[in-house]
Amino acid sequence: MSMQPAWMPVGRADDVPLLEGRSVQVGARRIAVFRLPSGWAAVDHACPHLGGPLADGLVAESCVTCPLHGRRFDLNTGQQVGGDYVVDVYEVREDDTGVLELLVPADLMAGVGAGI
Ligand code: FES
Repeated sequence: MSMQPAWMPVGRADDVPLLEGRSVQVGARRIAVFRLPSGWAAVDHACPHLGGPLADGLVAESCVTCPLHGRRFDLNTGQQVGGDYVVDVYEVREDDTGVLELLVPADLMAGVGAGI
């Protein structure tokens, strides 16, 4: 039986201010959720360089800057700006009661539990 991606609640939209990120635990993975002027974005929380906490980075122009060494990642594509590192991107949405939901990929569904 193969697992399917599934929407899972990961927290409340009110807890994420505009142009800030919050990290949520989804199974074995920690994912950074950001509120942008255009909507929501989510990428891996751990910077692929040396594990910096991307949810704590500065957000501007749909990019987040890693607080450890300043590498920037496009929150729409996961691609490092001007470099070769890539973070996984995830779909995130707000339901009509203000709950944030993340589309958890099939490979993360095993043993999943989610929350801020
Ligand atoms: S750990 Fe993110 S830039 Fe070095």
